[in-house]
Amino acid sequence: MLKNRPVPLLLIITCLLGWLHPLPAQQRQITRYLSEVPVRARHGMVVSIQHDASDAGLRILRGGGNAIDAAVATGFALAVVHPAAGNLGGGGFMLLRLAKSGQAHFIDFREEAPSAATANMFLDASSNVIPGASTVGIRAVGVPGSVAGLVYAERHFGRLTLAEVMRPAILLARDGYKLSKEEANDLHSEKLARFADSRRIFQRNGDYYRSGELFPQPELAHTLEAIAADPDSFYRGAIARQLAAYIEHAGGLIGEQDLAEYRVRDRAPLVGSYRGYTIITAPPPSSGGVALLETLNMLQGVDLRKLGDRTPEEMHWIIEAFRRAYMDRSDYAGDTDFVSFPLQQMLSPAYDRAFAASIDPARATPSTLLRRPPGFLPAPPPATAAVAESHNTTHFSVVDAEGNAVSVTYTLNASFGSGVTAGGLGFLLNDEMDDFTSKIGAPNMFGLIQGPNNAIAPHKRPVSSMTPTIVLGKGGKSARVWLVLGSPGGSTIPTTVTNDLISMVDGGLNIQQAVDAPRFHHQYLPDQLRLEPEFPSSSIAALKAMNYRVVVSESSWGDSECIAVDPRTGWLEAGQDHRHDYGKAAGY
Ligand code: DON
Repeated sequence: MLKNRPVPLLLIITCLLGWLHPLPAQQRQITRYLSEVPVRARHGMVVSIQHDASDAGLRILRGGGNAIDAAVATGFALAVVHPAAGNLGGGGFMLLRLAKSGQAHFIDFREEAPSAATANMFLDASSNVIPGASTVGIRAVGVPGSVAGLVYAERHFGRLTLAEVMRPAILLARDGYKLSKEEANDLHSEKLARFADSRRIFQRNGDYYRSGELFPQPELAHTLEAIAADPDSFYRGAIARQLAAYIEHAGGLIGEQDLAEYRVRDRAPLVGSYRGYTIITAPPPSSGGVALLETLNMLQGVDLRKLGDRTPEEMHWIIEAFRRAYMDRSDYAGDTDFVSFPLQQMLSPAYDRAFAASIDPARATPSTLLRRPPGFLPAPPPATAAVAESHNTTHFSVVDAEGNAVSVTYTLNASFGSGVTAGGLGFLLNDEMDDFTSKIGAPNMFGLIQGPNNAIAPHKRPVSSMTPTIVLGKGGKSARVWLVLGSPGGSTIPTTVTNDLISMVDGGLNIQQAVDAPRFHHQYLPDQLRLEPEFPSSSIAALKAMNYRVVVSESSWGDSECIAVDPRTGWLEAGQDHRHDYGKAAGY
């Protein structure tokens, strides 16, 4: 097994190289992780936020499974060992690329609104947003898609059986997994304490689990066994009946019919290019891929490499591109199965170049003064402004020996979702309804403005920011996979993926350095530049002098768990995010 900490000898060599080729002082300060070297493996790699889940995937790879088998195993295992975000009761996206055919699939298992949902369901009689209604409790829950998505992926692209790939998750639920200090602390969530089943299962009715203790989940083990034996029972059988009865009793809107009607969508991903690399990424109902590609298109003409990774001068160009891409997101994004918006025009290099021409090379453009270049996009439906942040979603990446690559981001939305555990079934339910527009112009939990295109409607999927992405090496669409990227972090997801990518393409960082390097984020509104805590005061001062309203976060953002394939040797290199202490890059 490979370790997930730097090898001392390599560390020394890297430091020596740094000494021989010193970086500019400012850059040296910012990239405090420059000495980190990635975990490397020859045949296969699984990187996730939780070591047992990564090991589950690795076991499947070693046992003859392909990257899809391993990803499904990791996904089910995370539902056990990472309850804040891993899930059966949420939804997400799996982007996969098959090495042999070069085909890519975007498996959309996003939650959808139940048939009884209405556009104003989170407003009171005076049309004000009811605080917490879309984020906590049973009415915040969208029809879950994770089980359908993982089962679909296994059936269509896996090599092993569902029972085989679910086995590690079942054992982890039955026998328990050992909690680290951070994991045990996370279970102290006040939201979980508000719901009897959540308090019983995750908090042992107040006798909290401690660091080093095993945390078994017998009800969840039973549910997983039932899914492994008959996956359709989740949507059209015994589990569906039990889930719908529980939700109805708790006052929620999801009925048996909603579960029976849930379908996975196997979509064509968006494809773009940046400096000769092919970028395969998330289409609607995610807004993430559009934001990523628009940002990259706007930066094509800027020599970022010359400016240096994370220098204020480089950051300025990227931030201004973020601002413009997020303006488009706020005004247009929606589920394209329900609304149409000018996606192709937004991605056209001519439009993005014209929009980028409004970037002042020396100063921030206030968001209120931002205007699109005329003649490209139709006027958007009217909208207004917003604020905030929150955490939990999880991303994991897998590459196998044949070069198949899988990038999965899935979520309960907020940490522990709605807080509601589905009674005897033992799993948490999402609060994904908050990703819809509760009210035009009112911020959701990520401070995102939600336009009319993202209004709630039966069976519609809320706009997401999740951005699972695969980057091919130079040589067009038939080139080999170079990067597997993605992250949690709500509205910061597309900017985190962009940070990771630019750090590698232009900044010269390796994958480990790229995922650990501090991130910066702008989402148009609120008009503020958010920074992770590590930026030095000199950078902050320089950015303020360019007229940015800088907000330094107290804590780090979501962990981005990524893989790079060395184009020369084919070796796999893991970017295992060190923002949390229980993740792992598991390779062989
Ligand atoms: O789909 C989305 O964009 C959100 N539901 C993701 C939520 C998230 O990333 C939470 N934080 N880490």
